[in-house]
Amino acid sequence: MVVPGRQDKEEKIYYPPEDLQMNAHVPNFNSYLALYKRSIEEPEEFWRDAAQEFYWKESPSGQILQFNFDVTKGNISMKFMAGAKTNMCYNVLDRNVLDRNLGEKVAYLWEGNLPAHHQTITYGQLLKQVCRCANALKQTGVKKGDRVAIYLPMIPELVVTMLACARIGAVHSAVFAGFSSESLAERIVDAQCSVLVTADGVYRGEKLINLKQISDEALEHCQEKGSPTVQKCVVVKHHTLRASGTDECNKLQTPWNAERDVWWQDIVDSESEQCDPEWLDAEDPLFILYTSGSTGKPKGVLHTVAGYLLYTSLTFKYVFDHHHDDVYWCTADIGWITGHSYIAYGPLANGATSVLFEGVPVYPHVGRYWEVIEKYGVSKFYTAPTAIRLLMKYGREPVEKYDLSSLRVLGTVGEPINPEAWLWYHDAVGQGRCPVVDTFWQTETGGHVLTPLPAATPLKPGSAVRVFRKPWPGIMRGIYGNQERFESTYFRKFPGFYVTGDGCRRDKDGYYWITGRMDDMLNVSGHLLSTAEVEGALSTHAAVAEVAVVGRPHPLKGECLYCFVTLKDSHEFTHDLVEELKGKVREKIGPIATPDFIQNAPGLPKTRSGKIMRRVLRQIARNEKDLGDLSTLADSKVVDVLFSYRCKTA
Ligand code: PRX
Repeated sequence: MVVPGRQDKEEKIYYPPEDLQMNAHVPNFNSYLALYKRSIEEPEEFWRDAAQEFYWKESPSGQILQFNFDVTKGNISMKFMAGAKTNMCYNVLDRNVLDRNLGEKVAYLWEGNLPAHHQTITYGQLLKQVCRCANALKQTGVKKGDRVAIYLPMIPELVVTMLACARIGAVHSAVFAGFSSESLAERIVDAQCSVLVTADGVYRGEKLINLKQISDEALEHCQEKGSPTVQKCVVVKHHTLRASGTDECNKLQTPWNAERDVWWQDIVDSESEQCDPEWLDAEDPLFILYTSGSTGKPKGVLHTVAGYLLYTSLTFKYVFDHHHDDVYWCTADIGWITGHSYIAYGPLANGATSVLFEGVPVYPHVGRYWEVIEKYGVSKFYTAPTAIRLLMKYGREPVEKYDLSSLRVLGTVGEPINPEAWLWYHDAVGQGRCPVVDTFWQTETGGHVLTPLPAATPLKPGSAVRVFRKPWPGIMRGIYGNQERFESTYFRKFPGFYVTGDGCRRDKDGYYWITGRMDDMLNVSGHLLSTAEVEGALSTHAAVAEVAVVGRPHPLKGECLYCFVTLKDSHEFTHDLVEELKGKVREKIGPIATPDFIQNAPGLPKTRSGKIMRRVLRQIARNEKDLGDLSTLADSKVVDVLFSYRCKTA
């Protein structure tokens, strides 16, 4: 994103506060450089040391790191700790309870959509609950290697189910509970899941979402696609329990199929709280998580046990400078990689206390985040630029109402942060006292790859530091069932390197400034969307002949979707049609992909060979008259027509 005024603001450097440096794991830039140098020059020793923290049933049989990163030399592969046997769940729970005496320590401070709903869960309680769930999953027939789909809101059962899968060697595939039934079905079919774990319903702000109904529709779609793999649907009684005794209960009908559906409470609560972990190979799969791909079909990013454990635990410890008495809060949803790595696995591996938040930033009031920080004494806070920009709109007053003196480190993730938002975060939220770690990474990288360390790195608002070349433990091991797509998407462009798909520039001091995606992907409110996927959804409407989707800068969302739609003859471009088209996108993908702009496009700008010129469409969406070289454009009149039909407001 190009931000006016960036050049002046980036000159100012913010140095780490001394009190943070006194106790920090990496207390200054020189110690960071030493650590960085060792990780680059001696990765085997570096990661062998990191692995000492954890429990290995058997040690690695050969080299710690084995890899081929160069497509010209054979298949891409990377292995960490090959030959070792371990269990993720054992390392993040049993090890903390048994070896580190943390059974009484709070693992999660669950805060519901309403402030009156909250609950604490200790490491000891979590371990017992995970064992019960693991036993129940085994009873439903889940075995090592089976895939379990999880479509749950931000409730403790979500983490419990993930860890229960990890305990028995099943592979979880969590789907963000804001995705539509069709998106859920597509993911279930791709991973051939045998069980789906969902909930009756959940309030997100003021909106009640009937998750079971969406799940049922998804399972019907799976049938229609000829892939009825789900044998059992486990349903957490969440809304109904929270609302019991009130009128709220009647607001939700839970459809039921007695042969397939079981209540979580009926099968989990009665199980034993003992469950032996399954000892897995270091490179056995841990989970699949889908991310948008530029072809439109989501990619099932596959992560494995040992490397992901090492990487998420180490990055969590250093990037948030984690200490035993911290209260940490990451506002992401666990349905995304940020939640997997930095609400579930990374914090638990460190024995951290985390807030698990079900709600939204502005409900029941615009100071909710700040209220939660005060309520729990949050010391490390991790959120997305889009949330910062949204809350910034309400000014400093809602922030100043609360005591935020517990905060020590702030983090951001998901999209480039503009310096204005960075400065507001630093000054208004962090009271000028807390370093802001802007963490660049991806579903595919498993954990942070470009980030400052809070006590060690002098900061420039909106930039990142240092890069590396060799594989790191948290890197994806493949796209589920598609090695060819894995290699061509990430490794073919620059043999010997992993390609993120983002652009960036490096300044005179060696700082990296991420400029955004270089492919047909858009980043809307920190969520990656593929233009092809949205085009596919719009094309399913009977009135649509052709469609092209581009990104347009948006003050809150970073980018938003701007769609050019050519209608079939005999169809009229009306307000109702626009609403129907938006509805199609919500139905096929989910509300996060709802377009802001849909414009009538009697024709699209194409080259003589018929390729749509997206570059030109992007300029029209932004009302930029400078269209560059148009010599390949087949029909130049199209452009004037499109300018005259431009949408001025959303
Ligand atoms: O474009 C980059 C952007 O988000 C993409 C990865 O999206 P996803 O796999 O959904 O994971 C998001 C959470 C890690 C990247 O290719 N991105 C992520 N973090 C940043 C970012 N862009 C700029 N700055 C960041 N800190």
